[in-house]
Amino acid sequence: MNPAQIPQTKQNSQQTAPAHKPAYEKSRQRIDVNKRRIINGADADVIQLHPMKHTFAWDAYNAANANHWLPTEISMQQDVEQWRSTAVLSEDERKAFKTVLGFFTTADSIAANNIVLAFYRHITSPECRMYLLRQGYEEAIHTHSYQYIVESLGLDGGEIFNMYREVDAIYNKDEFILSFNNGIFDKDFRTGTFEADQKFLENMIVFSLILEGIFFYSSFAVMFGFQRQNKLTGSAEQIQYIMRDESMHLNFGIDMINTIKVEQPELWTPQFVEHVKDLVTKAAKLEYTFAAEVFPRGIFGMNAEAFKQYIEYIADRRLGRIGIAPIFGSTNPFPWMSEAVDLSKEKNFFETRVTEYKTGGTLDW
Ligand SMILES: [Fe+2]
Ligand SMILES: [Fe+2]
Repeated sequence: MNPAQIPQTKQNSQQTAPAHKPAYEKSRQRIDVNKRRIINGADADVIQLHPMKHTFAWDAYNAANANHWLPTEISMQQDVEQWRSTAVLSEDERKAFKTVLGFFTTADSIAANNIVLAFYRHITSPECRMYLLRQGYEEAIHTHSYQYIVESLGLDGGEIFNMYREVDAIYNKDEFILSFNNGIFDKDFRTGTFEADQKFLENMIVFSLILEGIFFYSSFAVMFGFQRQNKLTGSAEQIQYIMRDESMHLNFGIDMINTIKVEQPELWTPQFVEHVKDLVTKAAKLEYTFAAEVFPRGIFGMNAEAFKQYIEYIADRRLGRIGIAPIFGSTNPFPWMSEAVDLSKEKNFFETRVTEYKTGGTLDW
């Protein structure tokens, strides 16, 4: 029998000394917090939280738990009545609503796949992995929310959930994002070389900054446009919770990216920065092409040109968070979006809730 085939019982391991130390020997030494890394750390075999290095991840985990919500807690009654009425919503409004819902159904599942199949596999910080477990669940809640809206309003689920395949502006955004899974999802992909680490960092930037930080935002603006007209407010409230979660996902992603910049500064080359700017420029263009599809004639005082400006404004802000100078220099044409983001000022927000999970304090973003 080949020695490798001998079952490693305690008895025969005493009789036959292994030629190499078994893998578990690595964990016999206490964790050195200075060796803990977002990627390429040495201690991801168990979720050993202490000593903790990346405290932002633990803070995010606790904040997420304090902000727990479920789609079924939000009343959809007024939305149901408005959707059935022929007097409330125009055809353009119905199309805009369905198109953003169609995009949302794809976006959160793409995010969830990347969390599980890329982030969780290659991020070695135990405290970051704790938050990723929570983040993955939140993406499932978001998909649940879209299903709940479809079911409540009696929409054609096949139409909404197939838009990725049938609407070019959604397909093009999703294909752009999905192309950054190529290589990373391969079972042989490993971090630990300059090329692999930059490729993984690129994936993190695309998913956190572009998908969660840019590609959701014109759709958020559409939903809050409805809310401002007192239309489909139950759906808008669902999306408001989702935006709060996504804002935390974005912040967590940015914290990880900025920490990698400190832990592995050699990755952040001038060429890489130019590449990131190029990606964000392409993404902004895809996003306002999508907005033009959603609003071919403009509604609620929002039109394709205003969306272009809004997306450029958002894109510059995202770049600024990872230390890259603005590309576009656009101002915010939708200042009310900042108010929608700042939920701690929305007094009525929690008054509409059936269940109160938050146990105290104010909402922090
Ligand atoms: Fe999500
Ligand atoms: Fe997310």
